[in-house]
Amino acid sequence: MFPTKRMRRLRKNEKIRAMVRETALEKDDFIFPIFVKEGIKKKEEIEAMPGQFRLPLEEVRDEALELVSLGIPAVILFGIPVRKDSAASEAYNPHGIVQKAVREIKDEVGDDLVVITDVCLCEYTEHGHCGVVEGEKILNDATLSLLAKTAVSHAEAGCDVVAPSDMMDGRVKAIREALDDSGFENMIIMSYAAKYASSFYSPFREAAASAPAFGDRKSYQMDAANVNEALQEVSLDIQEGADIIMVKPALAYLDVIRRVKAEFGVPTAAYNVSGEYALVKAGSEKGFIDEKNVVLEILTSIKRAGADLILTYHAKDAARWLEGK
Ligand code: PBG
Repeated sequence: MFPTKRMRRLRKNEKIRAMVRETALEKDDFIFPIFVKEGIKKKEEIEAMPGQFRLPLEEVRDEALELVSLGIPAVILFGIPVRKDSAASEAYNPHGIVQKAVREIKDEVGDDLVVITDVCLCEYTEHGHCGVVEGEKILNDATLSLLAKTAVSHAEAGCDVVAPSDMMDGRVKAIREALDDSGFENMIIMSYAAKYASSFYSPFREAAASAPAFGDRKSYQMDAANVNEALQEVSLDIQEGADIIMVKPALAYLDVIRRVKAEFGVPTAAYNVSGEYALVKAGSEKGFIDEKNVVLEILTSIKRAGADLILTYHAKDAARWLEGK
């Protein structure tokens, strides 16, 4: 084809490149994760996640206002309770830390910020597993009612979306039924549908003090090598009533995002997880990479793979960078 065809013509300058750009990263794509910790007075920086904090309840209103002012549409809340026990009681305590944080944020910003709550037990159990434990077994069916109770308590607090991240079988159905029975038939469910047993979560587990005390999560989270299994997981969650499905982590699983989006065409979220954030931060602190350009490239690649929404700790910075600030 050369010299008739010259691919470089459309790369001539930035205006032309912008005109033919196939993927547009936008602030509306972002969901910012925050950690709210019970019983602290000052925010604590998370060691393996520079620039990210565990916030006291007193600071969530200001945090919400900041997100609104940056044009970030949504937040996902993770709670760190003072008391952890075998029944994960604080997960569904109507006056638990997440339930309180939802009320504070909604009182401050109303519908200006979509409030998503992570529904899981691992931050609330003393053993750090995502379900009820018997010996060294993680029980599936006994966990479902606790997850459902947790989701209903978040709905009662006023959240907009519940996001089950536990990977128990049948949990979307159990949560959907419990929400509907309680009059929350319009509550949105964003399920962590294809959630892998990944080593990229370790900074999060430090942040939330939720590392499992024994064993690992491989009997409920997915094997990194599998993609057909991810399609089954997503299909089941959609049938059980999920409105938005998620692939997690994002970067090492771009092919999974692509397959899921192509197969189902439903709103698809991807979680750019703590370990992905930590790598970028460490690399840029050492001066090995340019943080801004690398982050925008990563987020664009997640979008290009097929994600409609990106949960990312980079959201605030990226929102500023997209504004040219
Ligand atoms: C809770 C949960 C985890 C993450 C989100 N929800 C931790 C885990 O499964 O161990 C990880 C998020 C991140 O690494 O940024 N189950």
